[in-house]
Amino acid sequence: MTVPAQPAPLAGKRVVLGVTGSIAAYKAIDLARRLEEGGATVDVALTANAARFAPALTFHSVIRGTVASDMFDAAAPELHVELGRRADLLLIAPATATTLAKLASGVGDSLVTLTALATTAPVLVAPAMDSRMYANAATQANLETLRARGVSFVGPDEGRLASGERGLGRMSEPEVVVGAVRALIGRAGGDLRGRRVVVSAGGTREAIDPVRFLGNRSSGKMGFALAEAARDRGAAVSLVSTQAPPPALYGVSVEEVESAEEMREALARRLRDADVLVMAAAVADYRPAETAARKRKKQEDAAGWDLALQENPDLIAGLDGSFVKVGFAAETDDLIANAAAKLRKKGLDLIVANDVTDPEAGFGGDTNRIVLLDGRGEPEALPLLSKYDAAQRVLDRVAALLAER
Ligand code: CTP
Repeated sequence: MTVPAQPAPLAGKRVVLGVTGSIAAYKAIDLARRLEEGGATVDVALTANAARFAPALTFHSVIRGTVASDMFDAAAPELHVELGRRADLLLIAPATATTLAKLASGVGDSLVTLTALATTAPVLVAPAMDSRMYANAATQANLETLRARGVSFVGPDEGRLASGERGLGRMSEPEVVVGAVRALIGRAGGDLRGRRVVVSAGGTREAIDPVRFLGNRSSGKMGFALAEAARDRGAAVSLVSTQAPPPALYGVSVEEVESAEEMREALARRLRDADVLVMAAAVADYRPAETAARKRKKQEDAAGWDLALQENPDLIAGLDGSFVKVGFAAETDDLIANAAAKLRKKGLDLIVANDVTDPEAGFGGDTNRIVLLDGRGEPEALPLLSKYDAAQRVLDRVAALLAER
């Protein structure tokens, strides 16, 4: 069976990357490369100061679009209007304190600030400066002005600054900025816009005592891919996870939990106004009957340890509401029959089945081979896909289910 390749998350989008004169300008090279890897076409506008840190020639070698810094180029006198007109997004990264001041007061003295004046595209800014400059009342007032005008911001982050000191002012890492770009452009046109999607991820940990737990091999990667893909399609995404999510999940509201019981509570809270639940977490079916308050000592006189277990509630079966319910079935045998039984028993709208003995589709990897069952048509077996592409296929079905309601 042939499956059309999924479009890259930023396919067909044009991003103008405005780079200004901060030491963090070197990060803009990696950022431009990652945006193009995500499918976008990137045009780069450099200020003269930015070009001292990150030369135009370097950008030329990583992107397909235009690289320009001269606003008096006789061959392209209208470039600032042209760049802004064709942009789906103007991203200014890094943005210095001086750039923020110019943006706030409408000064156009470089290709970057002129493009900002001339464009009607959304604007995303990644500030980078010394922490004192960031805290300065003038800078804060400029940020406020820009926010009130609808400009979005990513960062700055806390960390080591060019001065060697630590503080708030570091430009966000490129993968985080790309996450913010995807959240913003997705929101403008995605088919899950206005929808609230709750995703669970990772394997639950059931405490035996303060140092030991019962767990499983789930890495959380499939759940992260689902949260990322739903975010890219414009949904407001809530993730309840036992694993810390990667930085690229920018824009997703994350709650970290440990046990099945904590996961149940967090999900119940987040599902109050949700449209969709995607239960990718591997929930432990049993927990220790008792959790010891102190570390259990080795028993010198006993050859073994009989650990009494108690059944956990079935989370997805017990969470009621009008939301679309998507479950997973990780099986080692009788994949379709077992998945179909779970679909019925748990009252699901869709189940995503995978054979965990398949070395390309098991725990921890970046690929998956899934079968989708909704109890109506034939099971849909998909070929080997990246977890992100597999997530997009699951969401295609979710979008169709939502449209039916
Ligand atoms: N699930 C759940 N609560 C549980 C166990 C599982 O919500 N206590 C969810 C999982 O997140 C998944 C689906 O139910 O979406 C199927 O999980 P799976 O472990 O495959 O099924 P079980 O019902 O545990 O059946 P078994 O372990 O016997 O295969």
